[in-house]
Amino acid sequence: MKKISNSDPNFIRLQKILSKCGYGSRRSCEELILEGRVTIDGQVAKLGMKANPFEQSILLDDQLISYPTEDTTIVMNKPSGFIVSTKDENGIPNIYNLLPYHSNTLRYAGRLDVNTEGLLLFSTDGELIYRLTHPKFEIKKVYEVIIEGRLSKNAQAQLNYGINLDGTLTKPANIKIISESQDRSVVEIIIHEGRNHQVRRMFEAIGITIFHLRRISIGPLNLGAIKRGKYKVISKGELEKLRVTVGISTGTN
Ligand code: URA
Repeated sequence: MKKISNSDPNFIRLQKILSKCGYGSRRSCEELILEGRVTIDGQVAKLGMKANPFEQSILLDDQLISYPTEDTTIVMNKPSGFIVSTKDENGIPNIYNLLPYHSNTLRYAGRLDVNTEGLLLFSTDGELIYRLTHPKFEIKKVYEVIIEGRLSKNAQAQLNYGINLDGTLTKPANIKIISESQDRSVVEIIIHEGRNHQVRRMFEAIGITIFHLRRISIGPLNLGAIKRGKYKVISKGELEKLRVTVGISTGTN
């Protein structure tokens, strides 16, 4: 195995390299190493090893990994009618077709239903995706919901307290009425998890019809002025700030 100086800044912990390539959190990448699925220059890697992803051949399950030269993070305003999936889903318009390129290392954070609009994040940074989506970090997600009629005080209390979905209560939410009328109301809901179809199911469970659903923020990220179907590649500085906000240290190895 190639000898690399410890002072080489490209000499990085293997789990960090794998995570950056989109294979999950550093913790789950440690598991890949422990399972003997990773090799460095033809030798099975051990936990604790470092490597230079620019000079060495790192393979996961016999596939050469491709290390991004720079992390790319994209914030998109997802339009309705597009599926969020890395696979082709029977010809349904795919959200990746709206991106400048479809890289298998660019993962999305927090799926949105085909009919849901709003903020969708894509990143090559596995650790960032993990922090933004794992319920244990309780990152807040804000949704704008347009419903039929008004939301009664009782319904608001139920949504705030928690709704039983699949046998467990949703974590406490925050409801804010933005506008209301006899026919339709605009409501903001803040949740801290991301269960499947969570917002739709919470409202459905108390008999409320949703006309329209849009995510307006995830943690510190907002939709801002991004138009429907458009995206913004976030700058290195913004990405660094975002990583710090979600509790990722900025050290290089
Ligand atoms: N909750 C839903 O019901 N759908 C989404 O797309 C996102 C959150």
